[in-house]
Amino acid sequence: MKSTAPILATLALLAGCASGPTAEEQAAMAADARKASGALIQKLGGELKAALGEKGPDGAIGVCKERAPQIAAEVSKQFGFEVKRVSPKNRNPAGVPDAWEAEAQAGLEKRLAAGEKPETLDTWQVVSTPTGKQFRYAKALPVQPLCLTCHGDPATLADSVKARLAADYPLDKATGYAPGMVRGIVSVKRAL
Ligand code: HEC
Repeated sequence: MKSTAPILATLALLAGCASGPTAEEQAAMAADARKASGALIQKLGGELKAALGEKGPDGAIGVCKERAPQIAAEVSKQFGFEVKRVSPKNRNPAGVPDAWEAEAQAGLEKRLAAGEKPETLDTWQVVSTPTGKQFRYAKALPVQPLCLTCHGDPATLADSVKARLAADYPLDKATGYAPGMVRGIVSVKRAL
């Protein structure tokens, strides 16, 4: 009788490949993704506040334009993820969410409406794509009063802010927000 052991071993190996990271590995990646998004929020928030104080809102727009993508690149390198900010109403033309990101934000908005705390509002998932599995993570960026200086109702924005936004972001969709809304997400991704 022929042994079925080699076949079973091969099947087990294939199943192992297909099943992807274990629950523990996924939890560890989620913890890392939280650290990465926290690092981006802290660094960008710090520089934004400093720039607002030193240069005023329209000057701070220039800092945000230059530094936001740089900080995202630095954090991506530091943590070995692809880290960026996206929004369905994006200001940076590169900030358009993909299908997973759009769905993640919609889910986070529902949880916020159901009473969850905005500070810890995040979600993650291992997804299969045509090019392999990916770890995806999203952290909500809730609108705070400070954000309204540049993302509030157009009728309340300073003329200098409006002029700067029109010059730098002619296709800007990122105004009209109120406190408590989700402005966008920090999106963290890693190919597995
Ligand atoms: C000084 C003006 C200013 C303030 C204040 C400000 N932002 Fe922005 N925001 C910008 C600019 C400019 C961009 C585009 C940056 C870029 O080019 O990457 C932007 C982009 C974003 C994006 C990336 C997605 C997109 O629309 O391109 C998010 C998310 C975001 N802001 C959230 C916030 C939140 C949350 C706050 C408050 C904590 C805030 N912003 C405060 C100016 C501002």
